[in-house]
Amino acid sequence: MSRIVGSVALVTGANRGIGRAVVEALIARGAAKVYAAARNIEALADLVAAGSGRVVALALDITSDESVALAKAIASDVTLLINNAGALAPGSQLSTSIEQLKLNLDVNYYGTLRTASAFAPVIEANGGGSIANVLSAVSFASVPGFGAYSASKAAAHSLTQGLRAELGPKGVKISGIYPGPVDTDMAKALEGVEKATPASVAAEILDGIEAGDDYILPDPMAKQAYATFREDPRSLEAFFANFA
Ligand SMILES: NC(=O)c1ccc[n+]([C@@H]2O[C@H](COP(=O)([O-])OP(=O)(O)OC[C@H]3O[C@@H](n4cnc5c(N)ncnc54)[C@H](OP(=O)(O)O)[C@@H]3O)[C@@H](O)[C@H]2O)c1
Repeated sequence: MSRIVGSVALVTGANRGIGRAVVEALIARGAAKVYAAARNIEALADLVAAGSGRVVALALDITSDESVALAKAIASDVTLLINNAGALAPGSQLSTSIEQLKLNLDVNYYGTLRTASAFAPVIEANGGGSIANVLSAVSFASVPGFGAYSASKAAAHSLTQGLRAELGPKGVKISGIYPGPVDTDMAKALEGVEKATPASVAAEILDGIEAGDDYILPDPMAKQAYATFREDPRSLEAFFANFA
């Protein structure tokens, strides 16, 4: 279990979408301090203003070693890291250039790895805590229309499993979060699909972190996809193959 009340959290990609909703939920639930991290900190002004003095804007590009090192030097009191920042470069893996598809892995896998590596020792030194990685229902099976994104989220799922084994004994609890479609900029192009709200997903994420869940399934589609995957992985693959 990891208590939100009194925690010092860092949320990546906090300027919009799910990350912004998570910052708001952390403040509402009594976090002592929330580092709202974004590439452009000017986009955080209203979040900081509404944060009762508990939201600190932090510049962070998770694809940059230098940026992560600077953030680590500032946020040395973190006990809860929420790796939310993500990118979706769409396209069939067969007909899109590798250069374009690389963005998915650079942000979703290597970026998540970079911040987890930097902050795991910080959390350990602060007496233990949690790292929660925002992954996706497509971590469990590929959606061909965004195949490289799916591959990056599968890689980040594998990363999450590895971190759990390595960091659990050091007092750092690791959770994976596997949303279905959520109504944010990232899912704008998905039409005719039911989408969860960022606020409802944020609430479920914090419930899962507090409960110490390994797998957090924060919306109905996430729960359905994981149940199908557990019953028959091939049938989730077939469902997602027709999704795009
Ligand atoms: N929306 C969905 O349907 C859905 C479903 C499953 C999982 N997810 C995952 O949920 C997470 C949040 O996505 P969202 O839906 O809230 O999307 P979003 O509204 O597009 O937000 C993405 C966030 O990630 C940030 N980001 C991208 N690249 C970054 C980098 N190199 N360094 C730091 N921050 C970076 C963006 O910052 P900028 O504003 O600077 O670009 C933005 O704050 C992602 O990991 C996504 O893959 C989303």
